[in-house]
Amino acid sequence: MLKNNKTSRRDMIKKGAIGAAALAASTVLGTGVAQVSKRDQNPVNYQLSGKTAFITGGARGIGLAIAEEMAKSGANIVLFDIASGKIPHVGYAVANARDLQSAKAKIEALKVKCLAIKGDVRRRGDLENAMKQAVASLGSLDIVVANAGVTQVGAIEEFSPEEISVVYDINIEGVVKTIQAAAPIMKQQKSGKMIFISSALGRMGNELFPIYASSKWAVIGIAKSAALSYGRDNILCNVVSPGLVRTKFADNAYVLGKMMPNDPAPTFDKVSEMLRPGNPIDVGHLEPEDVAKAVMIFATDATSKVTGEVFDVSYGSLARSIA
Ligand SMILES: NC(=O)c1ccc[n+]([C@@H]2O[C@H](COP(=O)([O-])OP(=O)(O)OC[C@H]3O[C@@H](n4cnc5c(N)ncnc54)[C@H](O)[C@@H]3O)[C@@H](O)[C@H]2O)c1
Repeated sequence: MLKNNKTSRRDMIKKGAIGAAALAASTVLGTGVAQVSKRDQNPVNYQLSGKTAFITGGARGIGLAIAEEMAKSGANIVLFDIASGKIPHVGYAVANARDLQSAKAKIEALKVKCLAIKGDVRRRGDLENAMKQAVASLGSLDIVVANAGVTQVGAIEEFSPEEISVVYDINIEGVVKTIQAAAPIMKQQKSGKMIFISSALGRMGNELFPIYASSKWAVIGIAKSAALSYGRDNILCNVVSPGLVRTKFADNAYVLGKMMPNDPAPTFDKVSEMLRPGNPIDVGHLEPEDVAKAVMIFATDATSKVTGEVFDVSYGSLARSIA
């Protein structure tokens, strides 16, 4: 036994596969040489080739950027989006059917397969049908990104019951229904990754976005509960919480007008400039790609033993908050 061990160490040094320092460390720490070299030979796999990623709200904005980032790493993509142009009681336009088709073309240009499915996260049946279709055509359901969301802006007492409900129905119930549709498939596979898009406003109060902020707190609560529920099924559930991102969600007359009520011509860049001085790095907003790159951390093997975590992608603005 001892002889074999000595032989293998000598061989490895000869092959240059392991440095003297590592050998010394492994001896002192009592770890096997074979273990050290095995670890060295298995770098993190950032590739998603052959995997299927299902993204709600994938027709534009952050969802589309996530889809593109995953497609670049080889994943086949399912874009699930309401694509209706309008949602009653939401003050700005959501994606339309043309957006969904052009998103599909962008993904296909990256040489992966893409399904574009029209559906509403408020309807569990829509999600179940779409996920079944994904498995039937693409073979598996490996990554689900619960990204679809809407917002209201204004003081708490302003909102009608319908305006409150539409945000809670999409941002909270929609996420619950996304989990309900995905979990049985992932449990059967004994593997899966669910990634939830909350918000920096899901980590603090906000007098201008009170309904939205509370819905995004709820997303974190659901995600952590899912992490506890499905860990033994090898399903990992993590959250990404972005700060302000340049998408049509924020860059529209309704939201900008409420954020800069005294400016006759509010723009997204003015809002970004307004926020920038308060942040520790010289950044006032993110681009959708910045969020997509952070989401990739939870999609790959880099975080294979991480679940129930929240990753703030908010240019340091949350460094001032409590832990
Ligand atoms: N833009 C920001 O500043 C910002 C910041 C933090 C978090 N977020 C969150 O990121 C996510 C994506 O936002 P975005 O900025 O890309 O917004 P967006 O409006 O550009 O995209 C949202 C997408 O979701 C779709 N959608 C809306 N309701 C749906 C429903 N009921 N069913 C299916 N699809 C639906 C829309 O059609 C749209 O394509 C949201 O959850 C949002 O809350 C955005």
